[in-house]
Amino acid sequence: MTSVVHTSIKHDSAPKHVAGTARYIDDLPEPEGLLHAALHLSDRTRAKILSIDISAALALPGVVAAITVNDVPGDPDIAPVVRGEPMLAKGVVEFHGHPVVAIAAIDVATARRAARLVKVEYEDLPAILSIAEAIEKQSFLLPPLGLKRGDAAAAIAKAPHRLKGELNIGGQDHFYLEGQASLAEPREDGDVIVRCSTQHPSEVQKLIARVLDAPMHAVTVECRRMGGGFGGKETQAAQFACIAAVLARKTGRPVKLRLDRDEDMIITGKRHDFLSRYEVGFDTEGRILGYELTLAGRGGWAADLTGAVVDRAVFHADSSYWLPDVTITGLCCKTNTVSNTAFRGFGGPQGMATTEYVIDEIARYLGRDPLEVRLANLYGKDKNNVTPYFQTIADNILPELFDELLASSDYNARRQEIDAFNAQSQHLKKGLALTPVKFGISFTTTFLNQAGALVLVYEDGSVQLNHGGTEMGQGVYIKVAQVVAETFGISLDRIRITATRTDKVPNTSATAASAGADLNGKAAEHAALQIRDRLAVVAGAMLGVAPEQVVFASDKASAGGKSVAFAEVAHKAWLERVSLAASGFYATPDIHFDRATGRGRPFYYFAYGVAATEVLVDCFTGEYRFTRADLLHDCGNSLNPAIDLGQVEGGYLQGLGWLTMEELWWDDKGRLRTHAPSTYKIPTARDLPEDFRVQLVSGRPNPANSIFRSKAVGEPPLMLGISGWLALKDAVAAAAGAQMVHLDAPATPERVLLAIEAAKRATVAPAEVAAK
Ligand code: MTE
Ligand code: HPA
Ligand code: MOS
Repeated sequence: MTSVVHTSIKHDSAPKHVAGTARYIDDLPEPEGLLHAALHLSDRTRAKILSIDISAALALPGVVAAITVNDVPGDPDIAPVVRGEPMLAKGVVEFHGHPVVAIAAIDVATARRAARLVKVEYEDLPAILSIAEAIEKQSFLLPPLGLKRGDAAAAIAKAPHRLKGELNIGGQDHFYLEGQASLAEPREDGDVIVRCSTQHPSEVQKLIARVLDAPMHAVTVECRRMGGGFGGKETQAAQFACIAAVLARKTGRPVKLRLDRDEDMIITGKRHDFLSRYEVGFDTEGRILGYELTLAGRGGWAADLTGAVVDRAVFHADSSYWLPDVTITGLCCKTNTVSNTAFRGFGGPQGMATTEYVIDEIARYLGRDPLEVRLANLYGKDKNNVTPYFQTIADNILPELFDELLASSDYNARRQEIDAFNAQSQHLKKGLALTPVKFGISFTTTFLNQAGALVLVYEDGSVQLNHGGTEMGQGVYIKVAQVVAETFGISLDRIRITATRTDKVPNTSATAASAGADLNGKAAEHAALQIRDRLAVVAGAMLGVAPEQVVFASDKASAGGKSVAFAEVAHKAWLERVSLAASGFYATPDIHFDRATGRGRPFYYFAYGVAATEVLVDCFTGEYRFTRADLLHDCGNSLNPAIDLGQVEGGYLQGLGWLTMEELWWDDKGRLRTHAPSTYKIPTARDLPEDFRVQLVSGRPNPANSIFRSKAVGEPPLMLGISGWLALKDAVAAAAGAQMVHLDAPATPERVLLAIEAAKRATVAPAEVAAK
């Protein structure tokens, strides 16, 4: 039998996705007596709540209950990390759209109508809306993280060349196709079961227990699948699950809360937008000698995961480059806007994009191809290979990946063709950029790197598989099933994948940090190996050989030319009173980080990639099309190349969308004005580069002892999209005939046009460019 791992196998729900029969929360059969919930949102940016009048809402026929934070039976604080995030606004509203009251009614329309009848009196308070203002007023959610090596200021002062500037990088809405949704059902003895579209069932369970003042054993959370998460359901599914659970407790009836798209976009946090300020000193080849960087992320009104997001931005501000003397500081800015949260890459993309931009600036200043400057700064293989947090990069394959992609993308010839094209074309200009990715795998909060699994073999030889990983479309269920099939030597169709549930595997971590398959794959393997060892004893007796001689493959246990069917062994084990159930556990070894000293090994390993993207810009309108992209991405020995290819393609396009077309826009009152697909454009299949060539690196197993030597793939390819943004910057420079250009993200057509105009007008010296 060929192996089940390292094979392209379709997503286990693919037929159901296509047929429309895969059930999401709102598709579940509705229990009898179901109530529907809706929220009343604040229409103030920041204000003290003077009074709340719910009488008109309650008087509406069909309305069954209305709650404020004062109706929460237990502790209303649902913050995931640091306290201070009540389930509904408490005393003050902190942003435009802050939920204040929750209503339960017999149908959705009535609940939503009632929510609008709630009257709240406010007294406005001063608000902070921008990152720059937060920095100026020292409005921070948490203390900064700083990394420091050598003396950056001195190195910059001594360097032959210097640049100083700042860069704005926008946020991003998750735009999962299934919005936030929960269905809570009361059970006997005060228990509750909540079906929730969440990446983190255990945390939802914990927080529901907290708001209900119940032990965790009274609460079960189940998630069969999400219609996308992208980080947006790592912490922020909990609020809606808790509200549904409190309303269910109060009414004694099942309650469903599903946000509509506009509400979802207004209420829930997004990718952190960043303001980056840098000063860099470098030599004539463009080698960085000293680098001082401040990365200021917008946390919004509450901490949520901002501390860890800004940490990851700081960890990835080296991008793929050796920075001898460096100081990096991460700021967690508090503003009166929605509380930002995890989003694919988790701060890493913002840190990495900043330094890729700085490299591009250095190259333009020196009049060199940015590729040369990238290569001049690239981490070495055995020297110049220590990160600013003092982790040695053990398996740097980037030099080889650069070589491979340069050849396969025909970079040098195309660079010349593009320059020739630009020299003769007046109103259409092309741009090209090639950028690397090095992404650290592990939760930087070390204790989160743990997972559990439950494997049940039935006496007919069929298997049920459960683990802490949640399925959001990324394929973690099929990958972990492949691991178990491989371990038992059985075909995949013997394995039933089951919904993630807190009553099967307790105390799990979020499926996040790209580590879902790594962690849960190892935990499931651990469980399966225990059962396999027991089965080997049974099969050994059946075959008349020692247990160690039994091999499990092709749905059989075999030794010495004889074999018995796996199902027969399972049946025999049952008759012999051998346990066929096991729980497995895994904790990533060898990782540690000391925040106080800024030193350690936060990542078990790195995932790498390189991308070259080409763009064509219309200089009259600023509109553009991506004409070609070549991607080469490292998944180690991929568990499932078909799934991983999908992750690479989707990740790249989501990254490209973030840096080019997706623009979040708040007005001067802090109201989000882009809260629907009419005003917020995500890329579609039609926005893919016309000539799109994607390859996985082959023949390079993960040197770390990961599950079957694969590498995590969920987030890293998103950062390949940086090449598209810098290709635009390249085209803008060509269009303006200017050496230096400034291009914030997202580089919408409008911003591209303005950048061309600004660069044409600018007679400023490079060092002044960014002082806008
Ligand atoms: N792919 C799909 N289709 N949908 C998603 O929501 N989330 C991404 C990535 N790929 C996501 C996705 C994010 S943010 C992470 S952290 C990983 O998947 C999580 O899954 P994994 O750890 O199993 O890779
Ligand atoms: N990545 C994603 N999610 C997280 C992390 C991380 O590093 N830390 C805490 N939650
Ligand atoms: Mo992914 S941002 O770690 O959920």
